[in-house]
Amino acid sequence: MPTCASCGHELPECAKFCQECGAPVAPAVAPREQRKTVTVLFCDVAGSTELGESTDPEALLALLARYFERMKEIVERHGGTVEKFVGDAVMAVFGVPVVHEDDALRACRAAVEMRDALPELGIRGRIGLNTGEVVTGTEERLATGDAVNVAARLEQAAEPGEVLIGAETVRLVRDAVELGEERRLDLKGKSEPVPAHPLVAVVGELSRRFDVPIVGRERERRALDDAWERVRSERACHLFTILGSAGVGKSRLTAEFLGSLEGAKVVRGRCLSYGEGITYWPVVEVVLQLGNRPADPRAAAAIGSLLGESEEPATAEEIAWAFRKLLEESAPVVCVFDDLHWAEPTFLDLVDHVADWSRDAPILLVCIARPELLDRRSTWSGGKLNATTVLLEPLTSEETEELIELLLGEADLDAALRAKIREAAEGNPLFVEQMLAMVAESPNGDVVVPPTVHALLAARLDQLDPSERGVLERGAVEGKIFHRGGVEALAPDEPDVPTKLMALVRKELVRPDRSQVPGDDAFRFRHLLIRDAAYDGLPKAARAELHERFAEWLDTLSEALIEADEIIGYHLEQAHRYRLELGLGGEESEALARRAAERLAAAAERASLRHDAPASVALYERTLALARDEPWTFTHELRLIRVRSDVGDLAGARRRADALTERARRDEDRPRELRARLARAHVAYLADGSGEELRPTVEEALEFFTASEDDAGLADVWFVATLLEHAALRWRSAALALEQVLKHAERIGDRLRVEEARSILGPCYMYGPSPVEEALAWFEMNLSDHSFFLAMFGQLEAMRGNFDAARDLCSAARERARERGQLLLAAEVSMQETEVELMADEAERASEAARAGVAELQQFGERGWQSTVAGHGAEALYRLGRDEDAWQLTETADEAAAADDVITQMLILQVRGKILARRGEHGEAERLAREAVAWAEPTDALEHKADAHRDLAIVLAAAGKREEALTALAQAQALFEEKGHTVGVAQMEKLRAELVASLEA
Ligand SMILES: Nc1ncnc2c1ncn2[C@@H]1O[C@H](COP(=O)(O)OP(=O)(O)OP(=O)(O)O)[C@@H](O)[C@H]1O
Ligand SMILES: [Mg+2]
Repeated sequence: MPTCASCGHELPECAKFCQECGAPVAPAVAPREQRKTVTVLFCDVAGSTELGESTDPEALLALLARYFERMKEIVERHGGTVEKFVGDAVMAVFGVPVVHEDDALRACRAAVEMRDALPELGIRGRIGLNTGEVVTGTEERLATGDAVNVAARLEQAAEPGEVLIGAETVRLVRDAVELGEERRLDLKGKSEPVPAHPLVAVVGELSRRFDVPIVGRERERRALDDAWERVRSERACHLFTILGSAGVGKSRLTAEFLGSLEGAKVVRGRCLSYGEGITYWPVVEVVLQLGNRPADPRAAAAIGSLLGESEEPATAEEIAWAFRKLLEESAPVVCVFDDLHWAEPTFLDLVDHVADWSRDAPILLVCIARPELLDRRSTWSGGKLNATTVLLEPLTSEETEELIELLLGEADLDAALRAKIREAAEGNPLFVEQMLAMVAESPNGDVVVPPTVHALLAARLDQLDPSERGVLERGAVEGKIFHRGGVEALAPDEPDVPTKLMALVRKELVRPDRSQVPGDDAFRFRHLLIRDAAYDGLPKAARAELHERFAEWLDTLSEALIEADEIIGYHLEQAHRYRLELGLGGEESEALARRAAERLAAAAERASLRHDAPASVALYERTLALARDEPWTFTHELRLIRVRSDVGDLAGARRRADALTERARRDEDRPRELRARLARAHVAYLADGSGEELRPTVEEALEFFTASEDDAGLADVWFVATLLEHAALRWRSAALALEQVLKHAERIGDRLRVEEARSILGPCYMYGPSPVEEALAWFEMNLSDHSFFLAMFGQLEAMRGNFDAARDLCSAARERARERGQLLLAAEVSMQETEVELMADEAERASEAARAGVAELQQFGERGWQSTVAGHGAEALYRLGRDEDAWQLTETADEAAAADDVITQMLILQVRGKILARRGEHGEAERLAREAVAWAEPTDALEHKADAHRDLAIVLAAAGKREEALTALAQAQALFEEKGHTVGVAQMEKLRAELVASLEA
């Protein structure tokens, strides 16, 4: 026999509407597989063997038949489904065919009734109960999953006459039941003991806490106040309906309003979600609260019949009329009916009758319902002049924050977690409350969907007709925002997706949103948790298939789509993941992994080109996780090593480079081995600032790749060769090496390499022999917002005295790098900041910039830049006259510096030479200063070379060597002139005047 998809009531074959709840009957569809959270109940006869021995077989058969009949009746009365009889056992599932938000409590009520009914039958039984995710809708069984096994084991572990319930069930019913002492059971097939509680009794309802002060809702409360005011002044009846989704605070708002009424008569009734005699339940409640009877004897008789005081039957019309009379005579009165979405049609008619027909009596009818009410009665309150309906919207984000504060009280909550809860709850106070409670319980600090909330949402979705549900699930595959076109592509058998979508909008499950696909319509789930609940209902096999198909649909519009690779990659990745979880390996899965990886790698490359370093690290990691050790992942591995260095994870980059080298070696793949070693050497250079490891590798690779004319290899090797030239301050050669990189990288279309090579042409122009104006022209022609570029540009500006422009460029450089997560590059900018301040002769600022930079770089385990920045910092301290500190900093520099790091070695010698000169140790001072000049000689770093000559001049002047000092100074000046370094030139002129004056004196 078919059953109602809304309430589970049995239906005649041809019914179009459910006689029980009035819901339209959906055309019969084949049951489909679904994942659901259900509560499973097992009941078995204790000692059935003895029973069999002592009872006549015929009597036993009759007894068992009665037992099954009785158990089935109880289960079904509470909305459960009896699955099967194994021997003498009964298995029942609550949540099939439809989920109810209170399935766990229903199961508890049924269990207690069963337990109490068994002795009447002369049977002793055990009962076990457990809640969990199962698969339903398969051909063979009602429910399959671990939750079923655990329920069966709990039943076996129960004492005769006992009900044992599992921890998940306890979570859902805790406030409404009385439990015995917890037991920890060793169950077959479980590695850990399973906690269980004996269920003593069901003592109440699933209740909500109303103890924290109310947040917001001023407007709605005012509307209620106004309505009540009007009811009294006009002596008329008013129907005030509060609509809103579960947990949004309808009952709470009403409670608050009622609490503020002084002296008014208030009566309340509540619709029940199921049970016997539920139609008039709320009316009976109200009548009992009113405590009087209508004066009209016919009305009094109808009420008496309603209360079961007489056998005389009363019709629905009579009851409605009598109830109206009673209310009118009790007026002024506020009459609240809560949970109207569960009301029977007859009861809704009754409320309608009161609202339409009462005269000359101040009655405020407050009706509270979830939007589902409109599924049952779309015309509710429509067409009435004396009616108001408010839709209670979610709390604002500030109000939510306030509620979190109130609920936390004294307790503390980490800001990130707080933000997560705020986002996930999306203004639903019940969700906030439940999630906070979950966090308090699970100290690992993860926000998970509370089971109570999950049950609420799953129940809502189970009320949808199957085709609407299907549409919603297909939307959920895309995500919180989804497109009509996508749903249509995933549901080719659904003839009318747009109508279904509009129905879902009306049901407050989704709302229209701005489409990201031209010519399409977009929708947004009202709540992320609704999306998750819809998605969670899909079996994994369906998820795998739908994600893959969705990726294919996206592919057809990838022109129009931003970030197509990343999104398509994500869906293929999901499809692959679910296939693996289902144990479906093999070629098809591998091909899927490869397609996903290719998309993600393309997205990673794009992220790199945008300089979004953390995003590209994450995307490359995902790419490689899909296809570790496949030959085609090699270049992605290389890229990951680069971007990991960018974000400052030098150790991680080195580990990956080692692994990659090892792999290539194992495969005896020489070109790859060399490229991996080059990558490794690059990281080592970044970490140590030394070309040591580079040189032999570069030479070997250059020879090999030149012979094999391997562009990829040549681009790599020339790139790394550039670093060697950098270290040696041979900027012209560095630029030439970069030209090679560009040539080979362009040939193979390696845009990232090209981009990277361009960005480090900057320092060649800035530090190298090109005159400042020429170099500036290059910067202006090649504008880029790469942080390295900006920093170099800044330092060039400083050379011609534009210090403010220089400082702005440096801070822009730093900011850009930070925004992009290139933390190592951000720290590097401290080098240009220090040099700019030294040029501006702001020693104090220079020293501060250097101090901060050294500290920052140290954190990354970087040494090359760090040692140079320390060297510049020492110069600043020397200028401040803090010789001791300056010397100490040269030691820091010395410790970190590589032996072949020319600039750092020079700085150490220069500063130490000048300090020694101040101390009067002229011989040693001159030796060091000359050594610095000797280091500088083969380089073409004009500015640094000039500085070395200048410092030699200072040392010689201190020793009174006038002519030699002036010669050195003239050399410095000539170098500055050659560079077009006007600031340097002016400083040399000034220094010259000072030296002459002091030597004269
Ligand atoms: N404005 C508010 N300020 C503080 N707490 C609130 C507010 N609104 C609701 N709450 C709390 O959130 C929880 C859910 O509220 P309530 O029970 O009123 O929801 P509801 O809309 O009636 O849901 P249902 O449709 O399930 O009956 C309660 O614990 C309530 O105290
Ligand atoms: Mg409520």
